[in-house]
Amino acid sequence: MIVPIKQIIDKARKGKYAVGAFNTSNLEITLAIVRAAVAEKSPLIIQTSKSAIEYSNLPTIFNMISTVANTIGKSVPIAIHLDHGHDIALVKKCVDIGYNSVHMDASEKDFATNVRLSRQAAIYGHKKKVWVQAELGAILGKEGLIKLQTGKINMEELMTDPYQAKEFVEKTKVDTLAISVGTIHGSFKGVEKVDQERLKKIRSLVKIPLVLHGGSGLAPKVFKAAIKNGVSIINIDTNLRLAFKEALVASIGRKSDMIDPRQILQPSILAMQKEVAKTIRIFGSNNKA
Ligand code: G3H
Ligand code: ZN
Repeated sequence: MIVPIKQIIDKARKGKYAVGAFNTSNLEITLAIVRAAVAEKSPLIIQTSKSAIEYSNLPTIFNMISTVANTIGKSVPIAIHLDHGHDIALVKKCVDIGYNSVHMDASEKDFATNVRLSRQAAIYGHKKKVWVQAELGAILGKEGLIKLQTGKINMEELMTDPYQAKEFVEKTKVDTLAISVGTIHGSFKGVEKVDQERLKKIRSLVKIPLVLHGGSGLAPKVFKAAIKNGVSIINIDTNLRLAFKEALVASIGRKSDMIDPRQILQPSILAMQKEVAKTIRIFGSNNKA
């Protein structure tokens, strides 16, 4: 059931667990995510990026997610979030159509422009009681990536400065903050290293909920430490794409004469559901609905 995101995150902070924000772009992924949350009795954030919105269109994807959330997912609290909205016009459209939360991502701009756009989004969102997430620091990579050249990159230079984060939140009055503490979009086993000390420092200076992007590929113990050190929302996309593809290849390979899309996609739905359920248990949000 769709509820205000504040209800979900206030409870998570008190209970010291994190809520997964899982990316969807179609019905099959949405079914997998919502069914997993119901089976695990977990609160949920389900999110769409700009490209996911472009894949169908805004009313289609928003209404599809809302309907699944309010029917199949009626027993658990669910919020719909816009992920990486780089454009204030899209952020406003998502507020207007009924998203519970929107990400104004101007992190690639200079500090003053990021403050200005994030503040503008916060003013717009707050008029309709919509939470606004902003981002400070750079999170490398793109969802779905499985290879990245990190050789010459100084990760520390890209990370969120704790004192700047404090100033940023005071100036913008946003509701959640996406931070860069070493994670990378995509799945890179063995490459990502979360700077837990930096995270703790940000937590001590910034009072609003913190969001960890680029969750795919991190080990359970890294997630658990990040949650202990103050992260309340964790974004996951690539792990579901990998589960989808692996099951699809196996399914088609087994029975190449299969032509019913529902039959072909069923193993992928189950594989993604399993992946989401596993992640929910790592984040500790199971049985918290
Ligand atoms: O905004 C979406 C996420 O940060 C997803 O990152 O693909 O590494 O899980 P991921
Ligand atoms: Zn992200």
